Amino acid sequence: MKKYSTYPMQQHNTFGLNVKAAQFIEFETEEELCDVIKAGLSSPVLVIGAGSNLLFLNDYKGTVLHSAIMGVTVVEETDGHLLLRVGSGMQWDSLVEYTIQNGWQGLENLSAIPGEVGASAVQNVGAYGVEAGDLIEQVEAVSLSDGGKRRFTHDECRFSYRNSIFKAEKKNKYVVTYVTYRLRKIPEYRLDYGNLRSVIGDGNEVSAATIRKAVQEIRQAKLPDPAVIGSAGSFFMNPIVSDEHAKKLLQTYPQMPHYATADGRTKLSAAWLIDQCGWKNRQHGPVGVYKHQPLVIVNHGGATGQEILDYSMQICHSVEEKFGVTLSREVNVIE
Ligand code: EPU
Repeated sequence: MKKYSTYPMQQHNTFGLNVKAAQFIEFETEEELCDVIKAGLSSPVLVIGAGSNLLFLNDYKGTVLHSAIMGVTVVEETDGHLLLRVGSGMQWDSLVEYTIQNGWQGLENLSAIPGEVGASAVQNVGAYGVEAGDLIEQVEAVSLSDGGKRRFTHDECRFSYRNSIFKAEKKNKYVVTYVTYRLRKIPEYRLDYGNLRSVIGDGNEVSAATIRKAVQEIRQAKLPDPAVIGSAGSFFMNPIVSDEHAKKLLQTYPQMPHYATADGRTKLSAAWLIDQCGWKNRQHGPVGVYKHQPLVIVNHGGATGQEILDYSMQICHSVEEKFGVTLSREVNVIE
């Protein structure tokens, strides 16, 4: 276990904000985590993954907890599928690569996403028609209130678009230690999102590896590399509005992208709404909107969390004014 005081967080948030945490604790085993919680942590407590969805407004006055639990174990295997139990501290994309190398399918559409395994369950990361929650069999976690262990079944996790019980009712109550994924050994691919099929190319063999390569290419072209330009990927979620509201907007903007949701509402494209308000590739001081994907707010260098938040509010206001649609943040703002 590693414990530090007044710890620099710049390497632990992909916006690259230069803030400090009063305490920073990195645990390598579930037991270490249970012990440190039982011994008492100085509050407030913030559990982080790779920091790819965080916006710090200030130095953090409490304890930042980070999992360094590694390891991948096959816990069940049949001819058709397998269950893989993975430590929450493993890098997400290393897991995706590892599963593809082993001939296991399911995670390929989620290639090249920054972050760690624990956050895949908290955030229900999604891309190109697949959400991590679709593949999660169970989540193991430790309670921040008493250091006790608990398992959450797939249904108990209550996955929905970029959401789970760990972001809702149980927010800040549990630390994820292991995630078990149900993967396929028999090919069954999702190619219907956007231009995925055409990037793979007609006539080319479709495999988990070719999907991974295509997704890497699409993401590279659209999204900034956090190692080069600070960002947290999509800053806002795609808004879900009533069918009635969507129909009204479509009368004025017939070209507006829209997708029916399972519950009869309509999901709109935040990127499109922001683009229509003229924000793409704009910059104010060190903060701006990415040139290839208007849903991404970038730190060109030296921005503060407050400057980024203020800029995001301006974007929000203009979308609200033009379309009457309220954008919700995907990024987690830390006061
Ligand atoms: N668009 C524009 N202008 C642009 C770019 C896009 O109008 O400059 C519109 C287009 O209509 C396009 C639509 O936005 O068809 C969708 O763009 P994209 O395929 O990039 O998807 P997204 O809805 O903007 C979501 C996720 C991404 C994920 C992609 C691919 C959210 C909030 N974001 O973006 O996730 O990679 O789909 O599945 O759901 C993230 O969460 O950090 C993230 C990057």
